[in-house]
Amino acid sequence: MRIIRTKDYNSMSRYAAKFMAAQIILKPDSVLGLATGSTPIGAYKQLIEWCKDGDLDFSSVKTVNLDEYCGLSGDHDQSYRYFMNQNLFNHLNIDMNNTNVPNGIASDLQAECKRYDELIKSIGGVDLQLLGIGHNGHIGFNEPNTEFDKNTHVVDLKQSTIDANARFFKSKDDVPKQALTMGNKPIMSARKILLVVSGSEKRDILERALYGPVTPEVPASLLQMHNDLTVVCCVD
Ligand code: GLP
Repeated sequence: MRIIRTKDYNSMSRYAAKFMAAQIILKPDSVLGLATGSTPIGAYKQLIEWCKDGDLDFSSVKTVNLDEYCGLSGDHDQSYRYFMNQNLFNHLNIDMNNTNVPNGIASDLQAECKRYDELIKSIGGVDLQLLGIGHNGHIGFNEPNTEFDKNTHVVDLKQSTIDANARFFKSKDDVPKQALTMGNKPIMSARKILLVVSGSEKRDILERALYGPVTPEVPASLLQMHNDLTVVCCVD
């Protein structure tokens, strides 16, 4: 595990963007696992800038996102598909057909989970998985006490996650109660993982994840078992 502590959010974002850019330069047809949440936005902005300047080429890159709310279509402004289009994809020279987010309005959600796992395998697995961490230690939407060997699945969101994500919705009642998420298994199968963490309110959960026991109570603690994990954080 490599831990990079940066002085502020901007330096954290810049480091994360450089790490991702290096991946794309070394392997132009990389499969990137991408995350939503407020933490990666700065890194996404930097990648957009480099792409616009012609320094980074996304034309052969493929992406798979971690998760999506159940019941929200891709054009709903709180869906993760919408978030990714707005904050990244629309500004890159990426082929939209190469960008993947679970379909939260699939008529058969179990079949959608299976399709997603097969899709990840069919494109060769994830080269670099970007992750954030939830206040309760969740990664993607793998909530505390999820089995470590889960594939993509439907989750009932914990009240603490609904509360934390309510800031993006008109009211708490509008936050979906369920989501589709890549499970711990496909996440841990990524060849490299980059975890970005920002804010002093995340310091305790980050410490538990990195130095505490590996336990389903803290889903991110599983990352200790990954053989190529880089953490870039500003939590002081
Ligand atoms: C959501 C996402 C996670 C993300 C988390 C933290 O719950 N499903 O992938 O890591 O939010 O978000 P933030 O970066 O805004 O704290």
